[in-house]
Amino acid sequence: MQWEFESSEAVKRLPDQFFANLTKRVAKLEADGHNVINLGQGNPDLPIDNQVVEKLQQAAQKPVNDQYPPFGGHNYFREAVADFYKREYDVDLDPDTEVAVMIGSKIGLFEVCQCMLNPHDTVLLPNPGYPDYLSGVSFVNADPSFMPLLEENEFLPDYTKLNEEVLDRAKMMFLNYPNNPTAAVASEDFFEETVEVAKKHNVFVVHDFAYGAMGFDGVKQPSFLSTPGAKDIGIELYTMSKTFNMAGWRVAFAVGNASVIQKINLLQNHLFTSLYGAIQEAATEALSGSVDHFIQELVATYEKRRNVFVNSLRDIGWDVKAPKGTFFAWFKVPKQYTSSEFAELLLEKAHVIVADGSGFGTLGEGYVRMGLLDTEERLQEAAERIGKLDIAFD
Ligand SMILES: Cc1ncc(COP(=O)(O)O)c(C=O)c1O
Repeated sequence: MQWEFESSEAVKRLPDQFFANLTKRVAKLEADGHNVINLGQGNPDLPIDNQVVEKLQQAAQKPVNDQYPPFGGHNYFREAVADFYKREYDVDLDPDTEVAVMIGSKIGLFEVCQCMLNPHDTVLLPNPGYPDYLSGVSFVNADPSFMPLLEENEFLPDYTKLNEEVLDRAKMMFLNYPNNPTAAVASEDFFEETVEVAKKHNVFVVHDFAYGAMGFDGVKQPSFLSTPGAKDIGIELYTMSKTFNMAGWRVAFAVGNASVIQKINLLQNHLFTSLYGAIQEAATEALSGSVDHFIQELVATYEKRRNVFVNSLRDIGWDVKAPKGTFFAWFKVPKQYTSSEFAELLLEKAHVIVADGSGFGTLGEGYVRMGLLDTEERLQEAAERIGKLDIAFD
């Protein structure tokens, strides 16, 4: 019989992976032969531009890419990141000191906690927010303090309502716009206020820009680093998972404050020897501007899906607000249900999977998150299935 070993205290502190259970239930429904419409997760459903795949195929033929890549990634890839930021956001970056490449941004969120936080340091986190912020924070035994994202404040934290003492104590803050799960976007003014607050209270800002390309109705979300002074006090994480549909490739980067980028690179030198060289070559191609038409079409596709879905839900009497960015929608559940009851009802009776809003924090209660990650027809069908449940939506 195998012995049972005890976890480290750090592993014991890790929160439950809220969506792991949902994934199992979806698999069970599908195995039972049900036609499930899964809008619960954030896995892009469309492929990357073929040009990038071809680049990967060519690069995979090169023996140099069979070898360990250089620590910190190839120069050409970090330069491509700097060029991309200049072209897209007019942000100047030094590829040697202000860019860290990483195996997806999920690991980056964890790493920045490892690099910056000691036990019982205070960290400001959005509520509701992407659950993985809490993973890195719990692992290092830092103390989260939650910033409410309320609908009446466009799902932005209201710094004037945060406790001054907590702000003074806080060492780091996570922000994320366009926002998962609320689909809100942030203005330049909000970022300016963030820089001001961060400097006043000596708080380091980590802006998670996972959905940077995804603004609707002609709105382009500015980079946090476009804000004057942002690089003095922050970094931004940019993943290629969403903009380029490369979620399975695991490629992202952190950019900004050189002192922190250096710490991330140092930690990574102990954990990894960077990404597979062929992926770095293909990612360089994706960032070069040659697939910009693809990104525009992708955002237009999500916007069309959003319009179809929102209209179909309004047709069945559910008065939902149209999301402004990301590929998610954040909808208020009818009053007679909790988020989890409503999500359960849709799962059991309509085989439509949605994410229970309370999984994103206490202030996610009363909402569900739905991904625009299926075809217009399937989104319409999801609305029709929900319509057949005779729910009172007022
Ligand atoms: C807000 C946010 N940040 C970070 C990530 C992690 O992305 P990746 O690890 O694919 O770079 C996700 C993925 O869903 C996300 O929604």
